[in-house]
Amino acid sequence: MNRPGTERETVMVVGAGTMGTGIAQLLLENGFRVILVDNKSLAREKSLETIRKRLERKVEKKELKPEEVTTILTGIQTAAHLEEGADAVMVIEAIVESLSEKKKLFAALDRIFPGETVLATNTSALSISEIAAATRQPERIIGLHFFNPAPVMKLVELVSTQKTSEETVARTKKLAEQLGKTPVLVRESPGFIVNRLLIPMINEAVTLLSEGVASREDIDTAMKLGAAHPLGPLALADLIGLDVCLMILETLEKDLNDDRYRPCQLLKDMVNQGKLGRKTGEGFYRYLEKP
Ligand code: CAA
Repeated sequence: MNRPGTERETVMVVGAGTMGTGIAQLLLENGFRVILVDNKSLAREKSLETIRKRLERKVEKKELKPEEVTTILTGIQTAAHLEEGADAVMVIEAIVESLSEKKKLFAALDRIFPGETVLATNTSALSISEIAAATRQPERIIGLHFFNPAPVMKLVELVSTQKTSEETVARTKKLAEQLGKTPVLVRESPGFIVNRLLIPMINEAVTLLSEGVASREDIDTAMKLGAAHPLGPLALADLIGLDVCLMILETLEKDLNDDRYRPCQLLKDMVNQGKLGRKTGEGFYRYLEKP
């Protein structure tokens, strides 16, 4: 654990999108040094700005003192190149959900980082074994799957492949606990636990909407009040991103070879129209302010 007065451990986060930003904030709040790597300077700037605003909001809510925000923010450094984080004890990848991009990245991480650095992927549904196969040391590759918003949601899925070492699992579990998360251990399988259950439910909600069975508001109200979900499935799809939901369904359908995971046509149409949810300002609902 990083305690005041001791040297802070460094974790490198690759990818400054929604998940990378949330994970970086979480690490900072728990006393880690963070190197946030993204090759797009705009993404790096936006991410820092988001973290700063979220911490300032905590000051308004009296959860942090203004001077604590200053201290927390000294812990983050942004970078365009992976080499700048070479002293990190762990790397958490949160780039675009593309297997080829992730394989390229992990091959580079494997070259740059010494053997004892754990290399974790935040992928929602891609094959971690295939990502690990792009490296020479698959025993140090693990899935560390956070949930959106990462600073708030209490769960992480720790996903091990047949080659992940026990030491890698133990070290990742320790980090998750240092971050105040509850880890669940998962043997690699498409969609892990949460997305295997959650995303087909969202697909079914979109199907209900497209069949005109109920309005979007009533579908969401039904699940909020009838099943005690904090958000209804359509609002949740907007939070996750409709493109991400579609990608997960396509992966489940292909990898489990079962057409019960086939994405609803309305979901595909909305993704084609660029209505991806909160991040584009419109999904099943409209959003005035993009996060
Ligand atoms: N980042 C950091 N903190 C956030 C946040 C964000 N993006 N969004 C909300 N919060 C925190 C803030 O502290 C916020 O308080 P303020 O607005 O006063 O600052 C607090 O949560 C409450 O937020 P809201 O008042 O906006 O709304 P809420 O009470 O409904 O809580 C929520 C928001 C925690 C997101 C809640 O709606 C919830 O639990 N929703 C379900 C989310 C969920 O299921 N996520 C999993 C998605 S699946 C996934 O991520 C996996 C995948 O691979 C697809």
